[in-house]
Amino acid sequence: MAVSEPVAPQTPASPSSPPPNGMPSIDIDKITSEDSFGGMASSFVQQAITGNPYFAAGGGLMLLGTGLAVARSGITRLSGFLYRQLLVDLEIPSKDKSYMWFLEWMSKYKQRSSRHLSVETSFVQHDNGAVSTKFSLVPGPGNHLIRYKGAFMFIKRERSGKMLDMTSGTPFETVTLTTLYRDRNLFADLLSEAKSMALKAQEGKTVIYTSWGPEWRPFGQPKRKRTIGSVILDKGIKNMILDDVKDFLKSGQWYFDRGIPYRRGYLLFGPPGSGKTSFIQALAGDLDYNICILNLSEANLTDDRLNHLMNHIPERSLLLLEDIDAAFNKRDQTDDSGYKSGVTFSGLLNALDGVASSEETITFMTTNHPEKLDPAILRPGRVDFRVLIGDATEYQMREMFLRFYVGEEAKADEFVKKATSLGVPISTAQLQGLFVYNKNDPDGALTLVETLKTPNHVF
Ligand SMILES: Nc1ncnc2c1ncn2[C@@H]1O[C@H](COP(=O)(O)OP(=O)(O)OP(=O)(O)O)[C@@H](O)[C@H]1O
Ligand SMILES: [Mg+2]
Repeated sequence: MAVSEPVAPQTPASPSSPPPNGMPSIDIDKITSEDSFGGMASSFVQQAITGNPYFAAGGGLMLLGTGLAVARSGITRLSGFLYRQLLVDLEIPSKDKSYMWFLEWMSKYKQRSSRHLSVETSFVQHDNGAVSTKFSLVPGPGNHLIRYKGAFMFIKRERSGKMLDMTSGTPFETVTLTTLYRDRNLFADLLSEAKSMALKAQEGKTVIYTSWGPEWRPFGQPKRKRTIGSVILDKGIKNMILDDVKDFLKSGQWYFDRGIPYRRGYLLFGPPGSGKTSFIQALAGDLDYNICILNLSEANLTDDRLNHLMNHIPERSLLLLEDIDAAFNKRDQTDDSGYKSGVTFSGLLNALDGVASSEETITFMTTNHPEKLDPAILRPGRVDFRVLIGDATEYQMREMFLRFYVGEEAKADEFVKKATSLGVPISTAQLQGLFVYNKNDPDGALTLVETLKTPNHVF
């Protein structure tokens, strides 16, 4: 007879006792004792939730996540509400004039924290070939914080990734200034400060504009005005031109009453280095005008663009068309090499006639070869005033000598005698070269007078 250990009667495992394999147990008896299926299911779910640690943890996480999401949307809404109630924005798009003013202002402003800077380089090539560059560090794209008159301002410079300004090929940008609602008046103060700072930088200076796509853009930094006294033309010529321009500027009503387009064209012709460009710059300075320079031989200049540019000249600006003969000659000469200027001769004539604008239009044209010009361009209305700016006359030689060597009358006379006896045409640019080389030495200039024989002598 086999002795067997008494086997304990199978008792249902109490809920507290751990299951043999560590798995949560299910109270089968309890389930079977319930007579409805629903009761069984709910008990099963309850068991699973309370008894299954994975499930319980998942549920907890879900609740936590939902709670956080609700809280987050609440905070977002609240901050949106507060933002609308307490803060104000000012948006300055890059198309706006005050955009550059603001960036310049900010680059000079001390109380700011910016870690993103971008560089704006101005590059100017002077008459004498020297190049001067100036870097200004302006706030770059990103966020910046400044303190202005006690108020904090948050500044965001953004670049639109997709949109391009078709006129300049640069991406559209905006600067957004944000500050407290109560400090909103400071925006106006800030902008007017930026504006007066920008205008002050131009005071006593001549802004040179060049064409940039269909619009005019300032070229480099404004140049210091050239005094009219520093350009020495033959006796009476300077005043003749000056009087004519000033008289024209006073006669707006007269033109208007007679229905004549309010414009006047000047042609300065003569050999290289006689002071044509210098005189126009000095004249602009004297009149407090800026200069718009247009290069007609520019390859991508078309009739349409030319017309648009000539009808949208910035206020108080002279239009300067340099070497007016070159554009058309070049086109003829280099047709076979593939070069073709976009401007046609009739396009230029039409643009010169232009649309009658209420503002005055003063056009200066220069050329070294007036004989190459088509008579159509010389007709009144296009060119109303023509003047030869020639090689140095005795009068100019003397005046220039005395400008460099003040009070040296006797030496001036001697210089004129020696220079004229060379028997060659001498340009005023050559004289300037000689005098600059002998800065404070009139005798040096006298002994080196022979060098004027070669037009492009290098000292
Ligand atoms: N009449 C002048 N009085 C003073 N400076 C002059 C005169 N003519 C020329 N110069 C000097 O010579 C240089 C060249 O002058 P500018 O560029 O005005 O000549 P331009 O007549 O325009 O020559 P181009 O026909 O080659 O364009 C300048 O630096 C200028 O200061
Ligand atoms: Mg010139």
